[in-house]
Order: sequence, then structure tokens, then C-alpha cells
Amino acid sequence: MQPTLATDRLILRPFHLSDAEEVQRLAGDFRVAEPTANVPHPYADGAAEEWIATHAKSFESRSSIVYAVSLIGSGRLAGAIALSQISTTHSRAELGYWIGFEYWAQGICSEAARGMIQYASNELGLTRIDCRCLARNNGSARVMEKAGFLREGHLVKHVNHRGQYEDILVCGLTLPARSNPATTE
Ligand SMILES: CC(C)(COP(=O)(O)OP(=O)(O)OC[C@H]1O[C@@H](n2cnc3c(N)ncnc32)[C@H](O)[C@@H]1OP(=O)(O)O)[C@@H](O)C(=O)NCCC(=O)NCCS
Repeated sequence: MQPTLATDRLILRPFHLSDAEEVQRLAGDFRVAEPTANVPHPYADGAAEEWIATHAKSFESRSSIVYAVSLIGSGRLAGAIALSQISTTHSRAELGYWIGFEYWAQGICSEAARGMIQYASNELGLTRIDCRCLARNNGSARVMEKAGFLREGHLVKHVNHRGQYEDILVCGLTLPARSNPATTE
């Protein structure tokens, strides 16, 4: 079972189908979707339900682990954070996230990232986390920097992002190895 994680102000928990309407509202905001590689825009009816329905299987196979970022106290959903492309062979995964516009600039993503990094290190035994964003995505770059990621590369015109060729910032975080390595694939 996917564990629930707690940080000072947040609960990171699995998504429920009952979150779908709020996911569609938050991720359906173009300001949230635009810089991401995976959030569609417009965000169609039913897309959130479909996305949430994939999470249990992905967790079972440890291919990706998705968490709802919710606020302690109110329980309100603020965003999503995930480890994807989890590899046992290389003990690494890729970190991705989005936070609803009304919750920006309150340190929520940074706090969620710290929680996920701890989980990745302590529970999954990962020794490296990759994270990449559009080079112009200053908010995401700052989240990575604050979480301790190193800037490792700048890929020029690397992606066709919503019709424009754009540069990508590549960041990496190494974590201490533990004696019994990861059991995820
Ligand atoms: C990027 C994003 C996740 C940041 O979430 P957040 O909860 O607002 O981030 P935090 O509050 O933890 O901010 C971390 C730092 O980034 C800074 N920051 C946030 N947005 C910024 C922006 N647009 N430009 C410059 N700095 C920004 C904050 O000021 C803070 O730095 P500080 O502590 O030195 O003041 C959020 O803006 C978002 O969801 N954007 C759209 C989706 C997206 O870009 N996802 C990542 C795709 S790779």
C-alpha cells in the first residue's frame, strides 16, 4: 500500500477519485499546465479520473509513484508531486510536480519536494533523482535549487513544447546509498 507522508504543513497521500473535480480545476488552469510536459490543455472532462485510475497500478509495479499534495488542517488539495521512470538498476527516478495557482509562492512545492526526496532515499533506497524543466521556468528551477539539485545541463531547443522548440534545464540530486539497495524497477 502506498504510504501517506507528512511534512510540517502538508500531507502527501495517494489521490482518490473524489479529487478529480479539483484536479481538473487546478491543473486546468493554463498557468499551471503551460510549462509542464504532461498536463494537457484544455483539461478534458474525465481526464482527471482516467489519470487517477492509473496510480494504483503504477505504484504496484513501482514504475511511478504519484502523491496528492494536501494541506494539513483544511485537507485541501494543492497539487501533485511524483517520482516517475523509477529504475532499480540505476537506483534513480525523475521528480515532477505542479501546484495550483492559488497556492503558489508559499513554499508548498519546496516542502513537498523535501518530503518526496526523503521518501525516495529512506524508503525506496534511490541514490539519484533527476528533474528537468523548461529553461525559462524560473519557479521550477528555484524549487530544484532549494531542494539541493545541481544544475547539470542545458539542452538547447531540446523539445517541441506546444509548438515551439525550447531549451531544457537538467538537474540532478544524489542521495547517500544504503546497505540494502532499492527494490523498485
Ligand atoms: C513551479 C511550481 C511547482 C512552484 O511551486 P510553488 O509551491 O509556488 O514553489 P515554492 O513556493 O516552493 O517556491 C520555491 C521558490 O521558487 C520561487 N518561485 C516560485 N515561482 C517563481 C517564479 N515564477 N519565478 C521566480 N521564482 C519563483 C519562490 O519565490 C521560492 O523561492 P524563495 O524561497 O527563494 O522565495 C509552480 O509554480 C507550478 O506549479 N508551476 C506550473 C507547473 C510547473 O511548472 N511544474 C514544473 C514543471 S517541470
